[in-house]
Parts: sequence; C-alpha cells; structure tokens
Amino acid sequence: MSPTILITGASRGIGLAAAEFILADGAKVIALQRTVTPALEALSTKYPGAIQIIKGDFTKPEDISSALASLGTHSLDAVVLNAAVGEPFGPIATMPLDSFRGIFDINFFGVVQFLQLALPKLRERRGRLFW
Ligand SMILES: NC(=O)c1ccc[n+]([C@@H]2O[C@H](COP(=O)([O-])OP(=O)(O)OC[C@H]3O[C@@H](n4cnc5c(N)ncnc54)[C@H](OP(=O)(O)O)[C@@H]3O)[C@@H](O)[C@H]2O)c1
Repeated sequence: MSPTILITGASRGIGLAAAEFILADGAKVIALQRTVTPALEALSTKYPGAIQIIKGDFTKPEDISSALASLGTHSLDAVVLNAAVGEPFGPIATMPLDSFRGIFDINFFGVVQFLQLALPKLRERRGRLFW
C-alpha cells in the first residue's frame, strides 16, 4: 500500500513543491493549510484520489484533528512540518517583544502542539518526522 504523508503548508512555495514531489513518487498526501490555491487544487486533478486537501490552521487543535481524522483507518507514515511564518520581522532593537512572541507561538509552540497531537498516529507505524 502507498505510504501516506501529511504536510503542513502546501498552498505555495516549498510545501507545494514537496507535495508534488511526494505525489509523483506514488505516495498519498494530506495537505493542511489555510488557503486552497489553484496550484494546490491542480494537484487533485493531476493525481486523482491521491491527495486530500484540508483547509485549516496547523496551530488549531480542531484543524489538526480534522487532518488526522481524514486518515480514516489508514496509517500515517510521515509528517512534513513545513508551515511557518517569517513575518513580522524587523531589527532586534526596535521590534516589539510581542511580535517575537507571536512568531514563536506559531513556529515553535504551534509545531510542538501539532506533534503532540500527531505522535500517537505516527507511532502506530514508526512514522518519520521532517521539521
Ligand atoms: N524560502 C526560504 O528561503 C526558506 C529558508 C529557510 C526556511 N524556510 C522555511 O521553509 C518553510 C516554507 O518556506 P516557503 O518559502 O515555502 O514559505 P511560504 O511561501 O511563506 O509558505 C508557507 C506555507 O505555510 C502555510 N502556513 C503558514 N501559516 C500556516 C498556518 N497557521 N496553518 C497552516 N498553514 C500555514 C502557508 O499556507 P496558508 O497561508 O494558506 O495557510 C504556506 O503554504 C517555512 O517554514 C520557512 O520558514 C524557507
């Protein structure tokens, strides 16, 4: 059976390219991001039945649960924690501490929370994690 790989942030950029690479390799993809772009939708047409697109925020437990629930009885072979934000960013001397906290909330604590929720499913098959 083809492996199933969950990737966060496949609407554009590196995540979109990674999703297409994985699909071309014959694996199934669950893609979790807030926006469903035409480029992401095009993957459904190019690889029918091989990608499930979940519209959601990887920092929200209910959206993580939706993505994991879409597995049904399938196992989870890998997670690619690609999604992150790079903004707002500015000089350390002037950037408000709350802006730094906001970035850490998403890029660090958001990712750790995602992992805590996904680990039980990932461990069923000794799945891999890419961060
Ligand atoms: N490009 C580079 O040169 C570079 C260098 C070093 C590291 N990186 C890292 O590599 C990763 C991808 O980079 P990129 O350039 O492809 O970034 P990008 O073009 O900004 O794409 C980010 C992706 O993450 C998704 N995303 C952001 N916040 C999200 C959230 N809360 N929930 C769900 N999805 C979310 C975005 O989708 P939505 O907005 O639709 O949710 C988008 O698909 C990032 O982690 C970045 O920090 C990139």
